[in-house]
Amino acid sequence: MGETKTSALVDLDISSSIWESFFTVFPLVVIGTREADGSDDLAPKHMAMPMSWENHFGFVCTPRHNTYQNIQRDRQFSVTYMRPSQTVLASLAATPRCEDGSKPITQALPTFAAETINAAFVQDGYLFLECELEQMVDGLGENSLIIGRIISARVAEDALRSSDQDDEDLVYSAPLLAYLYPGRFAEITNSNQLPFPAGFKR
Ligand SMILES: Cc1cc2nc3c(=O)[nH]c(=O)nc-3n(C[C@H](O)[C@H](O)[C@H](O)COP(=O)(O)O)c2cc1C
Repeated sequence: MGETKTSALVDLDISSSIWESFFTVFPLVVIGTREADGSDDLAPKHMAMPMSWENHFGFVCTPRHNTYQNIQRDRQFSVTYMRPSQTVLASLAATPRCEDGSKPITQALPTFAAETINAAFVQDGYLFLECELEQMVDGLGENSLIIGRIISARVAEDALRSSDQDDEDLVYSAPLLAYLYPGRFAEITNSNQLPFPAGFKR
């Protein structure tokens, strides 16, 4: 192998969170649940991803948030995958609650109802999942992992892969949102085929 130039390594202090010391790439989703009073709740999450090849979806949430408490009570939640044009909406969904515990901003966001569960989606996202609670894994510091089983999934037509359209063109015409924790985002329009090894199987 040729000589490659490597960076000097910097030790990070693991007595506190390391994740603010560099950037990593996440999706940005909005989780929809039903509040105890029957109103919609929406909250953005970036620590979110599939949990299996068999249609499980999970995200990290603190038990302090209504999202956690609503799911614990109703055992269901919706997931909207947001587009790059929707960062303001996603962010607004994290507006702190009023002193009486209400979150009026949720009523101002453009939503539509899920079909099989009692929760809302954010309009104009590109992927919409309806989930039934499967497991809550508590005790990850002050966080928990919430895992749902996907019972309904819909994707916007312009984001659906098809044999008629090149994947590169698809990502270009329906760009993806990358949340670069902590606090930046990127619109992904350009993408390349990953160079898999010959004979690679999942
Ligand atoms: C961009 C962004 C990403 C976030 N990601 C997460 C996350 O992955 N997990 C989490 O628990 N909170 C996350 N939050 C914070 C919650 O969404 C926020 O505190 C929200 O208001 C909680 O609302 P709730 O009480 O209605 O559940 C994020 C906030 C923002 C702005």
